[in-house]
Amino acid sequence: MRIRSIHPADHAQLLQLWRRTPGIRLRAEDELEPFCAYLQRNPELSLLLEDDAGHAVGSLLVGHDGRRGYLQHLLVDSPFRGQGWAKALLQEALRRLALLGIRKSHVFVLEDAPEALAFWQMQRGWAARDDIRVYSTTGD
Ligand SMILES: CC(C)(COP(=O)(O)OP(=O)(O)OC[C@H]1O[C@@H](n2cnc3c(N)ncnc32)[C@H](O)[C@@H]1OP(=O)(O)O)[C@@H](O)C(=O)NCCC(=O)NCCS
Repeated sequence: MRIRSIHPADHAQLLQLWRRTPGIRLRAEDELEPFCAYLQRNPELSLLLEDDAGHAVGSLLVGHDGRRGYLQHLLVDSPFRGQGWAKALLQEALRRLALLGIRKSHVFVLEDAPEALAFWQMQRGWAARDDIRVYSTTGD
């Protein structure tokens, strides 16, 4: 098992993994072109966990806006859960962001993703915010 940077060529197998994982909500931005643009805008930040055969079994998309880091699509495939891999992905992401001077990050977690909520609840140095309400454009 190893953690490495995500490359554009990983898109097809990542999309497969994301599609079959409850808790991950896919958007138009997950299609190939915007995926590649995201990687180009945030070089060497997003992470892939691969097994010994080279198959993608986990991911974490990592970006920043120059002030804050934003994490998306944290996922570890079921057979590999409970072994600390999500924590390792998170630590590596924060390490890479810190090298760029980004010391504070956010993640938006779906209310109907109980495993994700349990994971984030356990993370030292992270706290759920009840002083902020997120407003997003609806596309209307
Ligand atoms: C959430 C997810 C990434 C966790 O992956 P994981 O590799 O099993 O997590 P880890 O093994 O690194 O767990 C780290 C800590 O979180 C805790 N944790 C993780 N999943 C948990 C669960 N389902 N229930 C309770 N605690 C949990 C672990 O006990 C561990 O605690 P420790 O550090 O004290 O040992 C994985 O369950 C997943 O991919 N879920 C589906 C996709 C999803 O919802 N992603 C989140 C998007 S924000």
